[in-house]
Amino acid sequence: MKKVVMLALLISGSSIQAQPNLEDFYQEVFEKDTLPPLAREKNQFEQYQKDYSGTLIEYTVQKQLKPQNLIGISNEQIDDHWKLYQGYVNQVNTLNEELAKMRYIGKGNSINYADRRRRYGFEYNGMVLHELYFANLKPKQALAPKSELFKEIEKQFGSFNSWHNDFVNAGKTRGVGWGILCRDDTTGTLINIFVDDHQINQIAGFTPLLVMDVWEHAYMVDHKSGGRGEYITAFMKNINWPLIEQRFNQARIGTIPKRY
Ligand SMILES: [Fe+2]
Repeated sequence: MKKVVMLALLISGSSIQAQPNLEDFYQEVFEKDTLPPLAREKNQFEQYQKDYSGTLIEYTVQKQLKPQNLIGISNEQIDDHWKLYQGYVNQVNTLNEELAKMRYIGKGNSINYADRRRRYGFEYNGMVLHELYFANLKPKQALAPKSELFKEIEKQFGSFNSWHNDFVNAGKTRGVGWGILCRDDTTGTLINIFVDDHQINQIAGFTPLLVMDVWEHAYMVDHKSGGRGEYITAFMKNINWPLIEQRFNQARIGTIPKRY
């Protein structure tokens, strides 16, 4: 790494006077923050695996959640999207292992550790929201007007159609993210929110009931970049309402709905 810094200095033509400061900076910030040399790291990692790695939860791809034969959303689109979900599962597992390993070798207060910790919300929600999303896609399902969820939506939004329009508009919010119907389990309030990326604007303690991915990758196989509206129209025809109702009913009695 020192050679890299030296080479960078030579290429950039930086003054010789600047070099000691950069070296100091390198020593302070990077060298102390990197993992130990490979051989030592390998030994520590092997020891870590013996001592702790068995305690790590390994998340797995939930194949049973993969939807097929939807209305207006092709199987090719789902197949392509599914690969991204698999990537999030892998990233979560890698992240958990790296963090545990760094804690084990005393790097829990390092910059590298802090950076990885920041990724938690992105990677975890990338996995969690996709599982909720794929599970709530099923064609030809209906929400019974006599159901508690239907009545609650009508009560809080004035009509089912008003809720529908608000949810669609949430999904059309500029930016990549998610339109989500949530329930505030403290007050019972239902609200349609937009989450940027996977983790920004999530509301703590709210239960996601209906989750709609509006990242462009969710529709780019079937549509071009301007096709979000057509995709959302198709999405609304494939809502697994019995599952949404189940999530709602579990939330009402204080049970956190499981993703699978
Ligand atoms: Fe997605």
